[in-house]
Amino acid sequence: MFEHLAAVIPDPILGLMAAFRADPDPRKDDLGIGVYRDERGNTPVLETVRLAESALLARQTTKTYVGPAGNAGFNQSMEQLVLGATHPALSAGRVRSVQTPGGCGALRLGAELIRAAQPDAVVHVSTPTWANHTPLLAGSGLRLERYPYFDPATGGVQFGAMTAALDRLPPRAVVLLHASCHNPTGADLSAQEWRTLLALVKRRQLLPFIDMAYQGLGQGVDADAFGLRLFCAELPEVLCAVSCSKNFGLYRERTGSLHLISSSPAAADAALSQLVRIARGIWSMPPDHGAAIVQAILSESRLREQWASEVEAMRRRIEELRLSVVQQLRRHCPQRDFGFIAHQRGMFSFFGIDTAQVHALRERHHVYMTDDSRMNIAGLRRENLEYFAQAVAEVLAK
Ligand SMILES: Cc1ncc(COP(=O)(O)O)c(C=O)c1O
Repeated sequence: MFEHLAAVIPDPILGLMAAFRADPDPRKDDLGIGVYRDERGNTPVLETVRLAESALLARQTTKTYVGPAGNAGFNQSMEQLVLGATHPALSAGRVRSVQTPGGCGALRLGAELIRAAQPDAVVHVSTPTWANHTPLLAGSGLRLERYPYFDPATGGVQFGAMTAALDRLPPRAVVLLHASCHNPTGADLSAQEWRTLLALVKRRQLLPFIDMAYQGLGQGVDADAFGLRLFCAELPEVLCAVSCSKNFGLYRERTGSLHLISSSPAAADAALSQLVRIARGIWSMPPDHGAAIVQAILSESRLREQWASEVEAMRRRIEELRLSVVQQLRRHCPQRDFGFIAHQRGMFSFFGIDTAQVHALRERHHVYMTDDSRMNIAGLRRENLEYFAQAVAEVLAK
């Protein structure tokens, strides 16, 4: 059965991780893999996660199944975190939620629901988008197409080209949008652009599928959900895939949620029953631990406050690194404008250098980023910024 299968080419990011690990130079910087890092280069367990986790272990009495829709308390807490406690779609009874194995599970579950509703639906994703969107969405059998998004000349969004392309789509076309902290570019829509896009989506009757993997790491927990909340309030149907990997630091616990906003409570119930059926056929029941931690944090006011300040500290660190690295680059590479890094949000920026320069940074200066020059800003360290800028200057001068 399997003898004819050819080996898959390994994901280049795995090779990058291995090369970084093997590099003994103390000045090395890992700007490759997309995880948050502190000043020492660690991806720490949040203090609130530790507290919630030990309380949970002490009081847990069973390991029986949680059910295909997951932990109801977690789902409710996530609805309130994502939409805001007083969101009109919640009071109208139009929201249904399923706990998923990470944001990836939510993306796949959402894609499967779309496929069940309309097998020939096309999902339109930004150019570029997170590489894993392709297998997650197309793997369910949906066709993927691209719309213009990132403008390398400004480091921002080509909003005119984006809306012109979306304005040609037929009703029920699916548009995948990043709620904030666009991966891999860091270029986000402004509040005004979200409003303009809303009018377009309404007029053309498109289905927004919003991926929110970085709530709190861009401009703040509420600000990062601005577009998502606006769309869910104003549109009859929206799908939201949410990840707790980054803002709760729960990467390996596989914690996320899919939120469906439907036109009526009855339509929402029917769609939820489909989501449960689909989940049952893929992972059957989601893993419990991460969701139980998130629920414990969000439902206890003291822990929730402490968590909010931990997320805010991560967010601030990224924001400060963005400003400081731009200053250092200005000093050491005055011939090139890297100011766009300060205007972008979240963990990633496209640095905008070519593959040969990326390789030179890696081989001569121990700075690791992916070949397309996506860099994880959180991988920078304040004490190493000058070294980084000098390395870039040397590579650009060659
Ligand atoms: C844009 C985007 N969406 C979704 C995810 C899903 O992450 P996870 O499945 O680890 O929660 C990620 C993770 O890197 C991401 O960058």
